[in-house]
Amino acid sequence: MAGVKLSDIRPVVWDQEVIVLLDQTALPLLESEIRCTDIEVLVDAIERLVVRGAPALGVVGAYGVALAMIEGKRKGWTAGQTHEQILRVRNARPTAVNLAWGVDQVVDHVSEGIEVVLERAHQIAVDDEQANRTLSQHGADWILKKTGKAKLRVLTHCNTGSLATSTWGTALGIIRELHSRGAIEIVYADETRPLLQGARLTAWELHHDGINYLVQADGAAASTIMRGLVDFAVIGADRIAMNGDTANKIGSLGVALACREAGIPFMVAAPSSTVDLSYANGDSIEIELRSPEEVTNLHGVQIAPDLSKGFNPAFDVTPGKYISAVVTEHGVAETSAGETVEKLVR
Ligand code: MRU
Repeated sequence: MAGVKLSDIRPVVWDQEVIVLLDQTALPLLESEIRCTDIEVLVDAIERLVVRGAPALGVVGAYGVALAMIEGKRKGWTAGQTHEQILRVRNARPTAVNLAWGVDQVVDHVSEGIEVVLERAHQIAVDDEQANRTLSQHGADWILKKTGKAKLRVLTHCNTGSLATSTWGTALGIIRELHSRGAIEIVYADETRPLLQGARLTAWELHHDGINYLVQADGAAASTIMRGLVDFAVIGADRIAMNGDTANKIGSLGVALACREAGIPFMVAAPSSTVDLSYANGDSIEIELRSPEEVTNLHGVQIAPDLSKGFNPAFDVTPGKYISAVVTEHGVAETSAGETVEKLVR
């Protein structure tokens, strides 16, 4: 993909009767695809993070319904069997609300036929890109006004760009928007242990976009912030509760606490599809617990002593009171100042 504009990169594409995924487990060393011809392959791909990032999972959830219908027709499934397979997709990962949301957006249309379901799924991808672009402008406007600075040093965690969405990005979308306005001095990209979405994917995207960046260990983030090297931090979200409490990649909470201590803005960016008003706060958001081996091994090589046990929560919840601004395509809510995010959903 050398020479391809990053804005052309789509992690999820519907091709005839197949969901084609850019294999994010292989990036940045290998740019390869996985073709999901059935639900078994799709669920495995979601679980292994071949496709990941909340908005991208929303698109995959919707296309997953279409895939189950096609596989069901091929294999002579009953409506009940098809629905069971749709539920497997819906439940493949628990924390990002977008996956279940994407399924729910289309599942009621199964009886209207594959064309209707596909049209709706395509529309989710189109709407997500538009939401990303709009929220990026809101976020850039807000932070430039808030800091009063012409050039910004920003810290981000995990990957929230084209790869994590239909295309363009959320937190990384804001960084790209600021870059297009000549307002980015440097990006500190946290490596994002244990699966290195920051080092592998965010760095790959920033490199393609020609944005100045440094990859740092997650453990460096608080110190970089407290040393005054960062003007603001921006992250994405997997689920945002009414009061702004935000589930996102493990390590996000530490970044928020350091920003609070340093007195710099901490921003959360997501499409409104990530806001879940059925949660008053983040206390009961389910945190995905992944395999301990992801922590005790690195790229398949054991790094902890034999018999070491690992603890591997994939997400944490940052209280809304530590979030200066939650940004969606509908605007900005300053939850640390007591606002709720209700106005960010329409
Ligand atoms: O486990 P992942 O890679 O799916 O986690 C992704 C994140 O935590 C992202 O920050 C979040 O989904 C927002 S993506 C725009």
